Amino acid sequence: MVLNTLMLHSEQAKDRQIAAELLKQGKLVAVPTETVYGLAADARNKSAVNNIFVAKGRPSDHPLIVHMHAASAMHDWAQDIPAEAFALAQAFWPGPLTLLLKKADHVDTVVTGGLDTIGLRVPSHPVLLNLLVTHQLAVAAPSANPYKQLSPTSARQVMETMAGKLDAVLDGGDCQFGLESTIVSLVNGAVQVLRAGPVSVAQLEAVLKQKVQCPLQHQVKVSGNVAAHYQPKTRLRCVSAGELDELLKDTTQLLAVLSFSDLSANTEPHWHCSMPTNAQDFGRVLYKQLYLADQSGAELIVLEMPPLDDQWAAVQNRLMRAAYQED
Ligand code: TXA
Ligand code: MG
Repeated sequence: MVLNTLMLHSEQAKDRQIAAELLKQGKLVAVPTETVYGLAADARNKSAVNNIFVAKGRPSDHPLIVHMHAASAMHDWAQDIPAEAFALAQAFWPGPLTLLLKKADHVDTVVTGGLDTIGLRVPSHPVLLNLLVTHQLAVAAPSANPYKQLSPTSARQVMETMAGKLDAVLDGGDCQFGLESTIVSLVNGAVQVLRAGPVSVAQLEAVLKQKVQCPLQHQVKVSGNVAAHYQPKTRLRCVSAGELDELLKDTTQLLAVLSFSDLSANTEPHWHCSMPTNAQDFGRVLYKQLYLADQSGAELIVLEMPPLDDQWAAVQNRLMRAAYQED
């Protein structure tokens, strides 16, 4: 079924009200968060949540994050909550951190992809947070993109890639972080980062006063954990500055280049973006620039690899999956 997708403007009270009403009626609304746009449905409405999987083309065994109005609502969704959860919630909520906890018995497994754990976070984007607080809502929301594609960081990008599949997009401006939340599992007594994100391992360790593991590959079902993910449609290659130079000199292909080194004189790729040299700023614009590169008509996207240190962990994690090739 093709829906008529409304564009709603969060500066207008009337539009915010429409977004809330649609959610309460069990409809799908893309909402702004501080990380990326989310494809939201009332988390307590089973059929609405089920429609998220249909709209995204996402397998129903991939769990969703529930976005709550306050940390106190953890008790509505989880049980056996360890002390670390309260400490992390106090330090980082509202904000870009998702906690995995044992789900409460009454929570339907449609949200959790059949698992007995649940992902929870309190988002800090003022538009979404106000909506949740005012209407006492909790929304299940994955990133608002077709399965495995780039996460959207603007309302326009959601509209361009998802129109017809949801009821409305609530425009709350460009996302502040541009990369998905850090996911920390607190299940079975261990603290483990399952997806690197805006909250770093060092920040988590400072609050918990203990070492936190951050395995690059793990078996837990986090959709960002499949090898090919966050992918532009055009093939992406990550290269060193030297390799980039060679490619620019030798290739006959139309290249879209994302680099932070200056390009050598006399090289003019088909499309070029100078990326920020600071990890946070790089993360904020990465998906947007990959999306634009994808639309430029280039035959190959080439990205100059950022450094490998800890600050760049979230970016490196996305790039590895965005550039992954089956063969
Ligand atoms: O920043 C974010 O986290 C964004 C915004 C919209 O909040 N959401 C997001 O959702 O990135 P999604 O579905 O694209 O990625 C959430 C990840 C998925 O990889 C999912 O598998 C994992 O969280 N997840 C959620 N609940 C889980 C659970 N109970 N156990 C393991 N992984 C879980
Ligand atoms: Mg996603």
